Amino acid sequence: MSGKAKVAGVIGWPVGHSLSPVLHGFWLDAHKVDGAYVPLAVAPENLSIVLDGLRHSGFKGVNLTVPHKEAGFALVHETDEAAQIAGAVNLLIFGERGRLIGRNTDAMGLAASLRDANTNITGAAAVLLGAGGAARAGVLALDALGAKEIRILNRNISRAEATAASLAPKLKTRLTVGSLTDWPNAVHDSKLLLNTTSAGMKGNEALNLDLALLPNDAAVCDIVYNPLETDLLARAKARGLKTIDGLGMLMYQAVPAFEAFYGVMPQVTPELRRHLEAALT
Ligand code: ATR
Repeated sequence: MSGKAKVAGVIGWPVGHSLSPVLHGFWLDAHKVDGAYVPLAVAPENLSIVLDGLRHSGFKGVNLTVPHKEAGFALVHETDEAAQIAGAVNLLIFGERGRLIGRNTDAMGLAASLRDANTNITGAAAVLLGAGGAARAGVLALDALGAKEIRILNRNISRAEATAASLAPKLKTRLTVGSLTDWPNAVHDSKLLLNTTSAGMKGNEALNLDLALLPNDAAVCDIVYNPLETDLLARAKARGLKTIDGLGMLMYQAVPAFEAFYGVMPQVTPELRRHLEAALT
């Protein structure tokens, strides 16, 4: 790395679990970029002051992860449509004259991951578990893929209702909501089950849903990548269903960030996946 290296990073609290430094590090090596990508542990109350400092230090931009995505959205001067719909940003670019440009590449990353896995849900129904920020990105992704209907099921049904009410006017897809007990009625003709809840993440209890009720040609996608094979995916695999893990979304959401930071369009490859899998074990 030289004194002219392009510097970017990821801000989280905590940030130690983030795979983004490994991911961007792989691409920096592969493309021989004179640059660095660093993890930045920043408490929520310090986000604004840290962003100011990074901008004044010549950072190209940063990715934002939990819990900063909504707070980041409130700080930016311009955003893309995905960020406006989601009310959250995962990518900040330091523009000219102090402008802070926010983007949300999560939905596009998930859509690309599902496309990559040949999951065709055009004109079909999908069940989406969860109603938080990740669920909003999930709804946008399934809408972009042409789903006919998204059935949002959440433990707290009023949260699902609020999420659906705020997103519905911006979508082509029909949204319906229910609680987790509505599972049997929601799944019987679904082509895709998408889990956006944090249940199943390392240390969290898994959801206990009867996967036998899913059609035999349904696919199951979990956006969690730690562990890579969640209990949900393991049970879907045992049931003979196609499964899509969270690494695809992670890799594809990072493509526009790397291009914005370093000026090179990177590729999502099997080598990159293997590199990330090795970092997870
Ligand atoms: P994110 O922004 O990553 O989506 P979040 O806003 O905290 O994070 O949302 C977490 C989601 O996981 C919510 O839908 C939450 O359900 P509630 O809205 O009912 O809290 C869901 N979730 C977390 N743990 C869960 C569990 N053990 N069982 C069911 N749902 C769970």
